[in-house]
Amino acid sequence: MPTTVIVGTQWGDEGKGKLTDLLAKDMDFVVRYQGGHNAGHTVVVRDDSFALQLVPSGVLYEHTVPVIGNGVVVDPGVLIDEIEMLEARGVDASRLKVSGSAHLVMPYHHELDKVTERFLGKNSLGTTKRGIGPAYADKASRVGLRVQDLLDPRIFAEKLDVALREKNAILAKVYNRLPLDADEIIDRYLGTYAPKIAPMVTDTVSLLHEALAGGKNILLEGAQATFLDLDHGTYPFVTSSNPCAGGACTGTGLGPRDIDAVIGVAKAYVTRVGAGPFPTECKDAEGELMVDRGHEYGTNTGRRRRTGWLDAVMLRQAVRLSSISEIAITKLDVLDAFDTLKVCVAYEAGGVQYKHMPYHQSVLHQAVPVYAELPGWKADLTNVTTIADLPSEALDFIGFLSEQVGVNVTLVGVGPARSQFVRFVA
Ligand code: GDP
Ligand code: IMO
Ligand code: MG
Repeated sequence: MPTTVIVGTQWGDEGKGKLTDLLAKDMDFVVRYQGGHNAGHTVVVRDDSFALQLVPSGVLYEHTVPVIGNGVVVDPGVLIDEIEMLEARGVDASRLKVSGSAHLVMPYHHELDKVTERFLGKNSLGTTKRGIGPAYADKASRVGLRVQDLLDPRIFAEKLDVALREKNAILAKVYNRLPLDADEIIDRYLGTYAPKIAPMVTDTVSLLHEALAGGKNILLEGAQATFLDLDHGTYPFVTSSNPCAGGACTGTGLGPRDIDAVIGVAKAYVTRVGAGPFPTECKDAEGELMVDRGHEYGTNTGRRRRTGWLDAVMLRQAVRLSSISEIAITKLDVLDAFDTLKVCVAYEAGGVQYKHMPYHQSVLHQAVPVYAELPGWKADLTNVTTIADLPSEALDFIGFLSEQVGVNVTLVGVGPARSQFVRFVA
């Protein structure tokens, strides 16, 4: 599998970090292609747990080159803190490469994310308030500052001046906030951040194409997920980038024919942080049990995640959108305590049954799940490492899912640690 993409198939936090870490063992490059520090990817190695926001989850292996691609939005302060955290914990992050074309998250992006969320009131999206949406908006409006601008003080100051004139007017006149000070930003970004970021800035497009030509293995680590995708997610309750596999091309400069495999990561149930439709949400004791057993609190913001039953309609759509070639199921162990398991196989709305995702959001808001019920296994899976040791009910659950979605399940997670998984060899 020379070039493989990892894509979240739900609303994020599927366990992409753990899967990336697992697969990175056989990879030469591990690349983030979109998102920013709105991501929180947890990797557990023995007793150590790492919560990564910007640095690719492959960093924990010494043989991989972690790369931040052009599609990512980078807050340099957060990146530096994360590198220092890793180094303080004995992880060498000096191999990290950062695309010069990646956009910078600026202080006014943080401010705008906070004030617009507050302004939206009950219509707020529940963003991570990390400035991600405003940074991508500036990219699309062609007024963004990029990582390469850190290397050119004149250009940086010029672009900042243009951006700040508009942002300060908006902050002051629309949101009644204090204007931001250009000199403070210049001091921090050029004085403190630039010298630390500069050695990592790279032409990552050439780096990755040369790697391909040299027969290297590349893993592309998605952040967020299919239904948070700006184009294909539950708009407007989405993030501002393209986590679907197409984003792996635009966010790295690799072409579609460079991709060999796409692994979709699905939790054995579904979670969502923030607002938006969620047809299989369980606002009852079963949902509570999923929160408790799955420790469903955000890696990044600490917010309680909403929980619900696995949704095959979503998975079918995720497979279509990213040409997913195999599925990894995570957190199967969280379902150990349930007598009966439900899988949503279709939606019903307005007297119509939908096996595929309805394109109209109003339909999704009214969708009532049609469930298949399967018996639970009521056994502890956390020490299981082989198919032979999985209870028949767990095998049936996985088989049912593959059949519903039309793609093989190749890996099943049974605990947070690197060693807690079962591989299904085709
Ligand atoms: P990501 O954003 O997709 O990387 O996922 P997060 O790291 O935000 O959330 C997934 C959480 O589930 C983390 O706390 C992981 O350590 C944990 N996790 C991953 N796989 C498994 C699994 O198979 N079983 C259990 N119990 N926990 C898991
Ligand atoms: P990982 O990579 C879960 C959600 C936010 C909000 C919406 C928009 O760890 O799976 P944003 O700050 O991106 O503008 O917020 O997207 N969101 C995530 N939810 N996991 C994530 O990342 C997320 N990143 C953003 O909660 O609903
Ligand atoms: Mg996460």
